[in-house]
Amino acid sequence: MENLKGKTAFITGGASGLGLGIAKACAKEGMNVILVDFRQKAIDEALPYFEEKGYPARGIQLDVTDRVGYAKAAREAEAMFGKIHLLVNNAGIGIPEKELYTDSYEDIDLAIDVNYKGVLNGIKEIVPLIMKHGEGGHVVSTASKAALVPVPGFTLYNSLKMAVCTVMETLAVDMKPYNIGASTFFPGPFMTNLGASSGEVRAKHLGIEMPAPPPPPPPPKDGEAPAPPPMPDVDFSKIMRSPEEAGERVVRGIKRNDLYIISHVDFKAGWVARAEAIARAFPDEAETPGFKQVFSMLAYNPIFEQQTQVPAFPGYEKK
Ligand SMILES: NC(=O)c1ccc[n+]([C@@H]2O[C@H](COP(=O)([O-])OP(=O)(O)OC[C@H]3O[C@@H](n4cnc5c(N)ncnc54)[C@H](O)[C@@H]3O)[C@@H](O)[C@H]2O)c1
Repeated sequence: MENLKGKTAFITGGASGLGLGIAKACAKEGMNVILVDFRQKAIDEALPYFEEKGYPARGIQLDVTDRVGYAKAAREAEAMFGKIHLLVNNAGIGIPEKELYTDSYEDIDLAIDVNYKGVLNGIKEIVPLIMKHGEGGHVVSTASKAALVPVPGFTLYNSLKMAVCTVMETLAVDMKPYNIGASTFFPGPFMTNLGASSGEVRAKHLGIEMPAPPPPPPPPKDGEAPAPPPMPDVDFSKIMRSPEEAGERVVRGIKRNDLYIISHVDFKAGWVARAEAIARAFPDEAETPGFKQVFSMLAYNPIFEQQTQVPAFPGYEKK
């Protein structure tokens, strides 16, 4: 979707962090934006930015796990600005994960409901509205770098975010005839409110507060060497980036019709190692004659050819 001006974006988790960054970047392009969020207070705090800039923006309070509520929100959104062209499935949470076999069923179900089913609910409710007007559009879903290189101990977060990617790859093929693009956004570390907002959503769903963070290590005793600093001496702002940058990168990806929108090149080596490991796991055997003709759609998906090389983002050094 190259021209965003005058079109409408429906952005879940849109009142904070990356969703708000995406909303700001969309508004800058001349879009109408709808901030859809679990937390009404966050919506109320986010909207004045748009009012001050003269950008058309509205808010809808919604829990993306609530299917009846989602259908109502979709109707409300259409009544606000008319046609919807862009769905951003960005709402997500982190639960206090340890090894999967120690996580509670309540947390497992909550993670699946928000991080996976919430995305499916968005597609079920909003994509038919984009198809209906025939002008085309785009769907972006926020996954994570954790989908590319699984983080030990985060089975749910890693796997649900990879599931989101597979949903979007499949949709990219299915929605092509309707001129609707599909992207997965893989953010690296960004400065957002994910810890606090996840705690709030979890508390409302399960009635349990997040466990307190571990206490800081005790100060060194007399004569003992001080503990080494926990982080190397690096420019943290270059690692933890701003939600505004995330928004600009996502808008660029929508305009380019990128299948994958990746924020940090730093995860590339990890991903390549994973892809190469899978390639090595294919038995060193000749291919089965006729297999590709019989099972062409199982053996190869041409959608991958759509992804062209993404140039360096403005302000970043080219490799
Ligand atoms: N911040 C990062 O470094 C990072 C990295 C990788 C992926 N992500 C992903 O980015 C997305 C956005 O998170 P963020 O970091 O901007 O955090 P954030 O807390 O700033 O924003 C998330 C928003 O989603 C909303 N939300 C949560 N559950 C919801 C629900 N059930 N229904 C509706 N709204 C809900 C929250 O209220 C919050 O406003 C998430 O999917 C997260 O998993 C973030």
